[in-house]
Amino acid sequence: MDKKRILTGDRPTGKLHLGHYVGTLANRVRLQDKYNCFFIIADLHVLTTKTGKKEIGQINKNVRHLILDYLSVGIDPKKSVIYRQSRVPEVAYLSLLFSMLVTVPRCQRVPTLKEVMHDLKITKPSLGLLTYPVLQAADILMVKAHLVPVGKDQESHIELTREIAHKFNEMYGRVFPEPKTLIGEVPTLPGLDGKAKMSKSLGNCIYLSDSEKEVKEKVMGMYTDPTRIHSTDPGHIKGNPVFIYHNAFNQDKEEVEELKKHYQAGEVGDVEVKERLAKAINVFLDPIRFRRAKFEKEKNLVEKILEKGNQKARQEAQKTLGEVKEKMGLE
Ligand code: TRP
Repeated sequence: MDKKRILTGDRPTGKLHLGHYVGTLANRVRLQDKYNCFFIIADLHVLTTKTGKKEIGQINKNVRHLILDYLSVGIDPKKSVIYRQSRVPEVAYLSLLFSMLVTVPRCQRVPTLKEVMHDLKITKPSLGLLTYPVLQAADILMVKAHLVPVGKDQESHIELTREIAHKFNEMYGRVFPEPKTLIGEVPTLPGLDGKAKMSKSLGNCIYLSDSEKEVKEKVMGMYTDPTRIHSTDPGHIKGNPVFIYHNAFNQDKEEVEELKKHYQAGEVGDVEVKERLAKAINVFLDPIRFRRAKFEKEKNLVEKILEKGNQKARQEAQKTLGEVKEKMGLE
């Protein structure tokens, strides 16, 4: 029996951060042997909010960044398929067919649309932005994925994907599985500033490619318990990003428990708690940095990975699209 499939991916808009790691990357690495994995670099999705030529000009550089981030956390191109969305034009075709199965009000109800419009101050969304999740459904269903490891913010898109799969199967005959979402152990990592989410646009991130010094500086400047004026005041753990990060990244669980106890009793200062956190995050990032440095030196590595991945993904896409057209009577 063939292994079940995973599809997930990212838009090439910049570097990946610790929030990505706990939300989805850790799951991807963990499940690489159990599933056949496809990782899509969704460059067409970038165009839903960035249409300028200058912004498009950044995409190639960001694709390279993204692949180095993948490799450095342990995604293995020998086991998994890494490919670029725009190099598989069948995806756009399938997205067009799917767009006939979804109503405009359904797309308007997807919560990420309102969020993006708010964040980017868009008053009238383009058709492309409105159908962002339809294109994502095409990504996922093109390879007939069963499982989609993503951050919590993407849940509503996978829900729409299931609806599309269900509707298609019902109308034309079964082609697609109805994929499930897999959310990371820490569903949403707060930002360095204490805001609900670590996010590039909020500028509150620790990146996987940050240096030891950058990590230290960022951690020392973190938001912590605002009610605590002196280090002898009892501190709060709950909702305190410093401790949320300790929980997520410090391997020394005993140290974390000790720190929590002393913090709540007003027996340890924020500076020490942060110094230990910076150290723990650097211990966590060191092997990632080491692998990144090694891969960066390999000539044409990224190009080779994509060439192979694009080809493999395209084969799958052509197969699925053939089946779709046959079931619909479009052949
Ligand atoms: N929308 C996803 C994000 O912003 C990126 C993405 C595009 C994706 N296509 C996908 C994720 C398919 C999972 C599956 O993070």
